[in-house]
Amino acid sequence: MATHIQTQALNHIPADVVSVSDYERLATEFIRRDILEYINGGVADDHTLLANRHAFNHLSLYNRISANFSNASTQLELFGRTQTHPLLLSPVAHQQLVHPEGELATAEAARAMNTPMIISTLSNTPLKEIAQKAKRSWFQLYWQPHREANARLIEAAERAGCEAIVITLDAPVNGLRNRAQRAGFQLPTGVEEVNLTGLPQAPVQALNIGDSIVLKGFMADAPSMEDLHWLRQQTTLPLLAKGISHPADAKQLIQLGFNGLIISNHGGRTLDTLPASIDLLPAIRQAIGNDIPLLLDSGIRRGTDVIKALALGANAVCIGRPQMWGLAVAGALGVAHCIKILQQEIEITMALCGCPTLDDISEDVFFKHSDIKQESIKEGNL
Ligand SMILES: Cc1cc2nc3c(=O)[nH]c(=O)nc-3n(C[C@H](O)[C@H](O)[C@H](O)COP(=O)(O)O)c2cc1C
Repeated sequence: MATHIQTQALNHIPADVVSVSDYERLATEFIRRDILEYINGGVADDHTLLANRHAFNHLSLYNRISANFSNASTQLELFGRTQTHPLLLSPVAHQQLVHPEGELATAEAARAMNTPMIISTLSNTPLKEIAQKAKRSWFQLYWQPHREANARLIEAAERAGCEAIVITLDAPVNGLRNRAQRAGFQLPTGVEEVNLTGLPQAPVQALNIGDSIVLKGFMADAPSMEDLHWLRQQTTLPLLAKGISHPADAKQLIQLGFNGLIISNHGGRTLDTLPASIDLLPAIRQAIGNDIPLLLDSGIRRGTDVIKALALGANAVCIGRPQMWGLAVAGALGVAHCIKILQQEIEITMALCGCPTLDDISEDVFFKHSDIKQESIKEGNL
């Protein structure tokens, strides 16, 4: 394990840390600059990274009065299991970059806060150990070129007690992480992708002179529709696809037998100028109907963001980078605090929007510009 790459985390929560963005600010003091650029950066010119926040901020909410909160609750059912809040932890690779305990500290926080953790294929700790600590976990699969390797990873996840499998489909090649490149980021020695050790390797693709390593190399290893069909046969666990942006892809995956989707632009880390994930949501919900669980990540930083996602058709949301910020600043305590902050913000937003339960959250929460009376504009009342 690499020990020289981060400043030691605090064993308490500083009094002035009250929001997720406070963790983002403070994390800059705990994470080495090249690593920070790898974590915080988007791709290319960061258009999508910025769009994620911009889109949430430009949706406005109404404050409503007099709803009956006697049976109020943030509880939901996902794949037959009850959750206290509509919040999960997105898969985030290489957590030992910011804390020596890495994923184990995050798992401890997930357990304490009763929040399912989606464990990355690229974790630095074996998935079995993380799953044991987290209590409730899902496993995120990065497709491996050899089918047998995927089968073994799924088997390991099932044995570890993971409750669902999520295959990430938006990153068959890495996006252009220009900020990380400029800062000279390389994965430090000692930060290992331990789940991949010993898995069967596919023969290396022979390229002809002039062949593109991206188009003929990496893309030859990307999962085909036949592979996804095969994957569906490999597990009886709920199977979700992450990184879906086009409604036609969403529909096709559901027809193939996928049980749910995670709308995501990978936190702006794959294709730059993809729309904000919240802007992708309504069309995908419409394409797959109301019965399929739909999750969303990318840019969730406030309880208001969560309510907006639910109002547009998501069942739950996931957070990515905030895990790394919390972990770097105060280890398990920091991650748990980030989750706690968001849970409280969700509750406050529901209270102020007049929504006692998640089922009460609908598009009615939104203020629309068409709601402004033309006369008011004319009279200059606004
Ligand atoms: C450092 C880092 C590592 C990530 N690793 C993975 C991964 O291993 N698998 C995956 O599907 N997504 C990965 N993601 C993407 C997240 O799962 C998630 O989609 C994204 O972070 C959500 O956006 P947010 O960071 O704005 O919350 C990673 C993101 C970051 C920042």
